[in-house]
Amino acid sequence: MATALLCLFLALATLSQASANAEGDALNALKTNLADPNNALQSWDPTLVNPCTWLHVTCNARNRVVRIDLGDASLSGRLVPQLGKLRHLQYLELFNNNISGAIPREIGKLKELVSLDLYRNRLSGSIPVKLGDLQRLRFLRLNNNYLSGHIPMSLTTITTLQVLDLSNNKLTGPIPVNGSFSVFTPISFANNPLDPFPTVPLSPSPSPS
Ligand SMILES: *[C@@H]1O[C@H](CO)[C@@H](O)[C@H](O)[C@H]1NC(C)=O
Ligand SMILES: *[C@@H]1O[C@H](CO)[C@@H](O)[C@H](O)[C@H]1NC(C)=O
Repeated sequence: MATALLCLFLALATLSQASANAEGDALNALKTNLADPNNALQSWDPTLVNPCTWLHVTCNARNRVVRIDLGDASLSGRLVPQLGKLRHLQYLELFNNNISGAIPREIGKLKELVSLDLYRNRLSGSIPVKLGDLQRLRFLRLNNNYLSGHIPMSLTTITTLQVLDLSNNKLTGPIPVNGSFSVFTPISFANNPLDPFPTVPLSPSPSPS
């Protein structure tokens, strides 16, 4: 009887630990996919009850991860789809590293995200259409990578967008100018093989008669 109770207790403890650790597991998946020559991720111990004491990780009062601050950390390797599990994340700061591979579309699940700073890395592939789901995003800086393909029209629906930098990539196709993109200038798109920046006609073009 006592053994049965102990087993039940251990099973429950393991279960609650597992759910409390889901965000730690996601971050640990990221860690295992990155090379970290300067040991920026040394404090990332997946056996802790949550990642809130890890360096470069910030949690809210309910122990949910809201920030990752790993700019200028000499990291290389790849981003992982598990990042999509950090549902309360507001700031993803990974600029000035050597991260390669694609931007996981799962980042589009981070509905609270305010800032996505992946600039100055070695990211390739296209910008996921799903990033248009980030309806609280204010800062989107993906400049100085090797991103290719078209700029997703879905990004024009992010009404909160204030800062956009897609410069110095390999993006092609049309530059959106409607929706939230109406405030951005050619600087946001510089040094890409994109179509020319559309000029807004000052007067309606004459209709054929
Ligand atoms: C990226 O890697 C190159 C060597 O491959 C190195 O020279 C450079 O300093 C690295 N950049 C960063 C930001 O770590
Ligand atoms: C901007 O125009 C494209 C089509 O050209 C459309 O798909 C997109 O939804 C438009 N964005 C907004 C915010 O209306």
